[in-house]
Amino acid sequence: VRLFEQDTLLVPNTWIVVRIDGRGFHKLSNHYDFAKPNDKRALELMNAAAAHVVRSIPDICFSYGISDEYSFVFDRHTSMFDRRRDKLVSTVVSTFTAAYTLLWPQFFLASTTDIASPDCGLDLAHLPTFDGRAVVYPSDANLRDYLSWRQVDCHINNLYNTTFWALVQQGGMSQTAAEEHLKGTVSGDKNEILFSRFGINYNDEPLMYRKGSCIFREYDTLPPPANTLQTDPSGNATGAGSLAEAAVSDGSDYRLSDVPEKLSRTQLDKQRKAKAKAQVVIKHLDFIKDDFWKQRPWILGGHPLRTR
Ligand code: GTP
Ligand code: MG
Repeated sequence: VRLFEQDTLLVPNTWIVVRIDGRGFHKLSNHYDFAKPNDKRALELMNAAAAHVVRSIPDICFSYGISDEYSFVFDRHTSMFDRRRDKLVSTVVSTFTAAYTLLWPQFFLASTTDIASPDCGLDLAHLPTFDGRAVVYPSDANLRDYLSWRQVDCHINNLYNTTFWALVQQGGMSQTAAEEHLKGTVSGDKNEILFSRFGINYNDEPLMYRKGSCIFREYDTLPPPANTLQTDPSGNATGAGSLAEAAVSDGSDYRLSDVPEKLSRTQLDKQRKAKAKAQVVIKHLDFIKDDFWKQRPWILGGHPLRTR
């Protein structure tokens, strides 16, 4: 009977991205009266639920969220659940959903002190639920392209929505008229409409709306890079590192950087502690440019805490 259970293992040595997305949030946001175009409470609740996911799953090295979606990037060499797709996706989705539901009253009912109160605002017919998928990206460039695509999407959608709702809410246009008005406009046109008609400088809009939210670990002091070469108690080289070293000294075409490090128990322990101590931060920064990644080399270091 066990043979009928088939696991999909995600390709080794690739970036795993699990993206969750709110189901039917268009309807849900109307039901719960989300502010348009951006509801600060809803976005901060998404961030709080995502930060909980990052804290609960140490192998997530970066995450990025806009609107009703969040992407979670796993360390390139994660061996969590032996990289089983179903386990990874379902764990992220349910951890996120549970936190989102539990934390809802903190964001939507500021005066609620008892979060177990049945009057938390959510009703069974409109419970927030999320779908999830996993995509793997083979290179750092592929991963960065993916993340940049999401951040560009954030910018395009937010500029459009900000202008659209300004025309409707402040300009008194119908939604159909506003849609028609914006057809064929480029970003410069929208900036101009916002500024000349409503006195809104788009660059003054809150960063969370314009850039989305990224979550990652910040370290006070970085532990030294992990050794590639390990030694057993007798001092002999062991593990993947030694295999690579041997191949290199052989003169064979063996790329050291593609060999996942096999860390000793002490090294793993040190990393686990450093991660537990690290601060999980929520920032609204541009990560399309190189600067963001250069300043935080541990995020794409591949192995937890290995700097490049
Ligand atoms: P599926 O994901 O296919 O189930 O549909 P969906 O209705 O969730 O739409 P989608 O994920 O494509 O887009 C998210 C939708 O959520 C947006 O179109 C908005 O209607 C709504 N939404 C997300 N964030 C906000 C917000 O801050 N304010 C408001 N008013 N709506 C929001
Ligand atoms: Mg959705």
